[in-house]
Amino acid sequence: MPSNEADTYQALIEDLMYLKLDKLAEELPQIMDKVNRRELNTLEALYLLINKQAGQKKLSSIRNKIMTAGFPHLKELKDFDFTFQAMVNKSQIYDLATLEFTDRAENIVFLGSPGVGKTHLATALGIEAAKKGALTYFIKAHELLAKLRQARDENRLESSLRYYNRYKLLIIDELGFLPILKGDEKILFQIIDKRYEKKSVIVTSNVQFSDWGDLFEDPTIASAILDRLLHHSHVITIVGDSYRTKDLMKKDEEISIERQ
Ligand SMILES: Nc1ncnc2c1ncn2[C@@H]1O[C@H](COP(=O)(O)OP(=O)(O)O)[C@@H](O)[C@H]1O
Ligand SMILES: [Mg+2]
Repeated sequence: MPSNEADTYQALIEDLMYLKLDKLAEELPQIMDKVNRRELNTLEALYLLINKQAGQKKLSSIRNKIMTAGFPHLKELKDFDFTFQAMVNKSQIYDLATLEFTDRAENIVFLGSPGVGKTHLATALGIEAAKKGALTYFIKAHELLAKLRQARDENRLESSLRYYNRYKLLIIDELGFLPILKGDEKILFQIIDKRYEKKSVIVTSNVQFSDWGDLFEDPTIASAILDRLLHHSHVITIVGDSYRTKDLMKKDEEISIERQ
């Protein structure tokens, strides 16, 4: 122990920096002031210091989960205009945002034409999951299938499936947007089957279930995939205008009004 208070304080700061407890070092002067003024006792001071450091660690772990989840953007539920898309039930979406569906290993399927907000909502729920500490991954269906196809061709499909299966929530975007290549339906079946009743999947698609048979070479596999995906699921069908072209449509209306 150093011989005087100033040296002890300096040594403490150095040790905190060495242990990378930078938040604790930053907060130390204010907390020490409060201890000296007898506004805090030793236990309270210790608690506050550790609590600030733990809070910082939690925040950086969440930030890390969000940054590595592969989201296309960081749009959240607060950025979604529910009045524009009247068919989307706001309270249902906020209910899903509690993430209880992931504890029950339920799935969500967003169906609808381009621009209605499927990817936005899937991403927003993914961000909520990451905020709650769930390991989450977002990937476009054709990228996922290409990665798994390559793994299969290199005889490492099992380990690749295990890799994706470690995510508590897997978001597969734009299923059916691009044609599903021959053989890929088996891979898709495996990834859905591995997670069935164990871990949640969010799927977005522009293809109605009744047309899924046409998506795949083998209709039996198509129905086996749908069967597992839909058994415990929330299906949200969005019929509405594209948010992407809403301003264009407004301009068209303005032009036609001007012409009248
Ligand atoms: N209701 C909405 N409120 C706010 N932004 C929206 C809404 N719907 C869609 N968007 C935005 O419009 C764009 C297209 O939406 P997106 O979710 O990618 O559509 P989809 O996946 O259904 O094709 C995105 O930039 C998205 O953030
Ligand atoms: Mg999309």
